[in-house]
Amino acid sequence: MKKIIIAIDGFSSTGKSTIAKQLAKQLGYVYVDTGAMYRAVALFSMENGYINKESFDVQTLINALPNIRLKFQYNEELGFAEMFLNDENVENQIRTLEVSQYVSRIAEISEVRAKLVEQQQKMGQERGIVMDGRDIGTVVFPDAEVKIFMNSSAETRAQRRFEELTAKNQDVTYEAVLKNVQERDYIDSHREDSPLVIAKGAIEIDNSTLNKEEQFEQVMELVRKSME
Ligand code: DC
Repeated sequence: MKKIIIAIDGFSSTGKSTIAKQLAKQLGYVYVDTGAMYRAVALFSMENGYINKESFDVQTLINALPNIRLKFQYNEELGFAEMFLNDENVENQIRTLEVSQYVSRIAEISEVRAKLVEQQQKMGQERGIVMDGRDIGTVVFPDAEVKIFMNSSAETRAQRRFEELTAKNQDVTYEAVLKNVQERDYIDSHREDSPLVIAKGAIEIDNSTLNKEEQFEQVMELVRKSME
């Protein structure tokens, strides 16, 4: 059967990864969470003191980019690939609210984007891939056979993210998570390089109105059609 590329874009916590993982499993495709790559660069910048509450040393980060090696490694038990930063498993560390508070600023830097986009395009060379992020249908794979744009209200998304974080025993408030979601929405959709916009040919899905099964069926229908 013809192998395709499925590009899933949308605001944070819209359930992109849930649907992407389901699709990859069903089709036997590779799933790539590109947000994890931006998060790993944010973690690297925090650990090395390039970014903190007061300042952001952009040039030093740009100079250090060749020292950042990112790799996904599939974990059989978890059923998805974990993020490795310079051979260290950082899957849990990149999911904190602290990393979320810096990552959009890291993702504004064109040099960072160029490096990550190149690596993402290589991963899709053989097709047979489901990739989620903000610029997959617009920049990384404008020729993807299926493009999806996921959306839902900021409140619904913040509630979901808040529950995920508290389930991991992170000490956060709903208000702080909502504020972060709204700030990232703004920065991600207003940045100069590759802002989050609906790609040409993308199908919009608002998951505040659909349950998970309905949503999956709707997307699978698109996938089947594109494989004919
Ligand atoms: O999907 P996520 O919330 O884990 O992504 C974290 C941040 O990374 C998000 O706020 C914007 C950035 N990002 C991006 O600019 N481009 C992508 N393809 C994926 C993520």
